[in-house]
Amino acid sequence: MSGAAAGGSLRDAPAWGRLQAHFAEVRKRTLRELFDADSERGERLVADGAGLFLDFSKNRITDETLLLLGELARERGVEERREAMFRGEHINVSEDRAVLHVALRMPRERSLIVDGTDVVKEVHGTLDRMAAFAERVRGGEWRGHTGKAIRNVVNIGIGGSDLGPVMAYEALRHYSRREMTFRFVSNVDGTDFVECTRDLDPQETLFIISSKTFTTLETMTNAHSARDWALAGLGGEEEAVAKHFVAVSTNAEEVSKFGIDTDNMFGFWEWVGGRYSMDSAIGLSTMLAIGPAHFGELLAGFHAMDEHFQEADSGANLPLIMGLLSVWYGDFFGAETCGVFPYDQYLHRFPAYLQQLTMESNGKHVTIAGEHVDYDTGAIFWGEPGTNGQHSFYQLIHQGTRLIPADFIGFAHSLNELGDHHDKLMSNVFAQGEALAFGKTAEQVREEGTPEAVVPHRVMEGNRPSNTILAERLDPRTLGALVALYEHSVFTQGAVWGIDSFDQWGVELGKELAKAIIPELESKQEPRLRHDSSTNALIRRYRNMRSRTSS
Ligand code: F6P
Repeated sequence: MSGAAAGGSLRDAPAWGRLQAHFAEVRKRTLRELFDADSERGERLVADGAGLFLDFSKNRITDETLLLLGELARERGVEERREAMFRGEHINVSEDRAVLHVALRMPRERSLIVDGTDVVKEVHGTLDRMAAFAERVRGGEWRGHTGKAIRNVVNIGIGGSDLGPVMAYEALRHYSRREMTFRFVSNVDGTDFVECTRDLDPQETLFIISSKTFTTLETMTNAHSARDWALAGLGGEEEAVAKHFVAVSTNAEEVSKFGIDTDNMFGFWEWVGGRYSMDSAIGLSTMLAIGPAHFGELLAGFHAMDEHFQEADSGANLPLIMGLLSVWYGDFFGAETCGVFPYDQYLHRFPAYLQQLTMESNGKHVTIAGEHVDYDTGAIFWGEPGTNGQHSFYQLIHQGTRLIPADFIGFAHSLNELGDHHDKLMSNVFAQGEALAFGKTAEQVREEGTPEAVVPHRVMEGNRPSNTILAERLDPRTLGALVALYEHSVFTQGAVWGIDSFDQWGVELGKELAKAIIPELESKQEPRLRHDSSTNALIRRYRNMRSRTSS
């Protein structure tokens, strides 16, 4: 099997057995004890890479845990699999594809020959076309059908063709062309399109139809509505489409069937997974917003983390450490979720972006060999920016009964220094990590004069693990490094679990069923329904409510 997939069951790995025995020894040890026993712990269990600093000292681990997790990674062939990915081997076994998002950010002077083609050359060819186009639009040279410059850009896409672009736009808004408006339509719910376009002038609006396959129901439905909307506002002349629509896709045939000239198409390749595509041509809206130079910085940040992942020792390798810690909590402590809390308002869509990256990648129940796993795989990722989450769900993390490992992300410098806001913001990053780890004992609560009956309510058990990621400031380079950090952490987890992190068959059945149900909802005649009794009854009730019943 290509891609150095780990052979045998994870449970048969010697390090797995040793980790189980080790877990029995350390599971009761508290972070208080661990910190008391080692005054240097907070300075020792840290690592730097690609401009990011990771403090992983507040995790329920000892040096032995790290050693054993490192052994597990070795036994599971994480390193070999990583190299196989970078070489362009078909490590996406169930789709027989290479997984080469790392090639999207390789510098121009590099070369990577895959199946006889230099993919780096192709990547830079597309980047150059994107840059030339972006400059024309941003400079007002690209005119709409009636001669007006483009002021509004609407990206239509869903999943990886939306979440990356919208997250990156929001994250890098500070660097964006403020005179231009950027909108993102994803949902097939017509409300999304209507609300996104209601105040836009079609004469000044450019649509980017972003879809790897160019067949996705939501995107194609929105794309057709966009064409109707644009033509209605541009006098109905078909030639207007060429000035107001561009496509980003791997499917030239479908693009031209839709009526977009393939000259106005920016391609990418089947070896780029949707959720790994924000740095491909799918990032066209990002480039239009922040400009080609900043986009180049974003790619450089990704690449710096790629190099770190390949080169750093295991004890100092950020994605490896974070990925192995996820395995530790998920498979040994039984943690079901992982919270990601960026303390930066610009990163407010980062948790949503990470949900697709992590859960579509590692939500798998069989190994690469097709055997059902007998251990837990991908955790549920979720989160909100700080400090908002603190006033909402943090109560459960602090005093609830579930273990929720948390990642805190903060920056030394705000992009909007305003009075003492930033120090107040960051004080909360440090305070939350401290409170989660060390809590408050009954003794401490009593010393505050708390009535005895209330003491148990105010005790904070602590021992809740967290990572803290710090960087100088949220700039394009840092964002690239941060995304690549999570990409490679996801990779590490998938390699240990021996699963295919790059397919997504689980989303197909729902799509197929919906396609079959559409005509049943729309039919003028009462359709013959062959679903289960619940689905049949729901469809009938809906038709009734829409007055589509013939009876
Ligand atoms: O439904 C899941 C999915 O296939 C994602 O993996 C992908 O990012 C999204 O749909 C959109 O696909 P496309 O870019 O082909 O429209």
